[in-house]
Amino acid sequence: MPSGRGVTRRQMLGIGGALGLMAATGLTSAAALARRPSITGAQLRSAVPLPPPFQVPLPVPAVLKPVGTSGGADRYEITQCEASAEILPGVTTPMWTYNGTFPGPTIESRRGRPVTVSHRNELPVPTVVHLHGGRTPAASDGYPTDLLLPEGRQEHSMHMGHGSEHGMHDPRAVVTELTRDYTFPLDQRPTLLWYHDHRMDFTAPAIWRGLAGLHIVRDDAEDALGLPAGPRELPLMIADRAFAADGSLAYPALDPTLRVRPGVREPYLAGVLGDVILVNGAPWPVHEVDAARYRLRILNASNARHYELEAVTGDGHRLDLVQIGADQGLLAAPVVHRLLPIAPAERYDVVVDFSGVPIGGLVKVVNRLGSGRTRDVMAFRVARKAADDSRVPRTLSTDLPAWRRSDAVRVRDFAFRAGRMHSGHGWLIGGLPFDPARTDVTTRLGDVEVWRLIADVHHPVHLHLVGFRVLSRSGRPPLPHDAGLKDTVSLRPGEAVEIITRFDGYRGRYLFHCHNAEHEDMGMMANLEIV
Ligand code: C2O
Ligand code: CU
Ligand code: CU
Repeated sequence: MPSGRGVTRRQMLGIGGALGLMAATGLTSAAALARRPSITGAQLRSAVPLPPPFQVPLPVPAVLKPVGTSGGADRYEITQCEASAEILPGVTTPMWTYNGTFPGPTIESRRGRPVTVSHRNELPVPTVVHLHGGRTPAASDGYPTDLLLPEGRQEHSMHMGHGSEHGMHDPRAVVTELTRDYTFPLDQRPTLLWYHDHRMDFTAPAIWRGLAGLHIVRDDAEDALGLPAGPRELPLMIADRAFAADGSLAYPALDPTLRVRPGVREPYLAGVLGDVILVNGAPWPVHEVDAARYRLRILNASNARHYELEAVTGDGHRLDLVQIGADQGLLAAPVVHRLLPIAPAERYDVVVDFSGVPIGGLVKVVNRLGSGRTRDVMAFRVARKAADDSRVPRTLSTDLPAWRRSDAVRVRDFAFRAGRMHSGHGWLIGGLPFDPARTDVTTRLGDVEVWRLIADVHHPVHLHLVGFRVLSRSGRPPLPHDAGLKDTVSLRPGEAVEIITRFDGYRGRYLFHCHNAEHEDMGMMANLEIV
């Protein structure tokens, strides 16, 4: 029998409660969306001319230098500020940034070497920094009410959207003004993490405006594998956006100041999609490569858009996408894909071999779920022959946790579904919208649990603090791209996905939530207390 919130909820609402509420909202969109499995969300249309694909060079975000190192720890400083960017050629776009760029600067760390990032908030709104995929003590994990206020804006703590409107307040919130130090022990498997805003009710529009950056963790064992490295290792942050006539980023926020009233306009309740595909902040970019193996570290930083990526040569051949890592680091052994689905917040570490492509040839990265302009993602131009001493070893790692179902001390069920929240549309977990004052799950440090996650439409579900393994999808074995240790799993419409994890690391208050950023802002988040 599942313990915890699921049981109480059923007793209170009755098993059909959540479904009944859902029907009462007239949420035909959820049912309709379930029948269109490739898309959850509605697409904005840009009001400026869009550039042709594969013209803009691929930028690679600069690696941030520490301002100091002491006692085996590195200290970084990031200023969150408004800045203008030229994302579309000839168009000026005001953005919210980390250090003036989108994506923000990349932080490179070694496993087990602690990092402190001091964030300074010069934006007009409170912010919260979360290191996605980080094994981070709760005080630095970016809980949505642990606000970093702009200078002199103490009154902002009174404007926390749903929190204040509905008399919900969070006595545990730790609010700071102007600067805040986030400390990351990074005692974890090497992988690609990303940091992004996580403010209560306003995460989706803040990420959309530019508050996202990469954080890579490395270690000696990974370095010794001989994988493609240096200029042949490329981070690829994929994100869709749309542009208003004045060049600004279009977003259907109910409150464009992003201060008081959360949420988006009705057609976009299921998620906001853009008609421009950016990679590392450039529209449909092109990158010149050697005829050699490249390691592509792909992150889907889109709010709601899913992709199914393939790499297609000029003569229509699909190159192998050799997956070597998942969200939480290296797989045990490579897995070869031709088509790679990637949901919001997921990361895939992939090796692609361009050595068989004729010099001068173009390899397009295509999104099979897109149509029109959103079908193209980026391209590689194979520029020259080159020596290649990189390898993809048959054994990549031997330290993956081997939890078995029989290790689990309990099984919990969570339904991720549309429903009603504060007299409007919401996205609910177990029939309830997020409430910082309620503890949804209490577990003991070290416990192994199986969670069964059930979806109406697409929900990419993310757990803070821990990595997990996918056990099954609707009673069937996991899919090839479910391999390895993950922190975000894509639930497909109607699916029940079982995951297994061990809650170790730190005690404290953490979160799990849907990483469709609009769903997250509209209630689809819950508290996880590790005691
Ligand atoms: Cu990237 Cu709580 O998430
Ligand atoms: Cu996270
Ligand atoms: Cu969702």
